[in-house]
Amino acid sequence: MLGRIGRMVTLTVDGIEVRVPEGATILDALHVEGTPQRADTPTLCWAPNLNPVNACRACVVEVENSRVLVPSCARDVEDGMVVRTDSEKVRHSRRMVLELLESSVDMSQASADVQRWMVSYGVDPARYGPPAAPAAAGERDTRRAGHHGFRTGAPPRPSPSP
Ligand code: FES
Repeated sequence: MLGRIGRMVTLTVDGIEVRVPEGATILDALHVEGTPQRADTPTLCWAPNLNPVNACRACVVEVENSRVLVPSCARDVEDGMVVRTDSEKVRHSRRMVLELLESSVDMSQASADVQRWMVSYGVDPARYGPPAAPAAAGERDTRRAGHHGFRTGAPPRPSPSP
């Protein structure tokens, strides 16, 4: 028995026409042989065996007539879609995502791909200030999620009524 044959969708990626099956994501289209940025679309929260979570926004691309950048890992392709992967807007956004990440965590052990993207996008985490001193041993365990004060045992004070 033959499997279902889906409709093919044609889109343009950086001026090159790409055909992928209906239901594919833009990132799938970027992985098609011959697409200019196919091997170099940054992805931090995507993996082929995961459902898209749209968490990191490192994979954003510009889609013509879209008000905002879209995450290529989660957005389905549409017939006639025009995608730009290397515009100034895309590069600026990817740079900022990588800078914010590097400004908050130690990236020295990140994968070679991530290290390459940091260089390629001119990441400069120093723009967000100098690194904070490490927390004293055990200090982080005393914090409550969503709050920035130390635990005192006293219940939180109610907000004043308007
Ligand atoms: S890879 Fe993280 S939002 Fe697409």
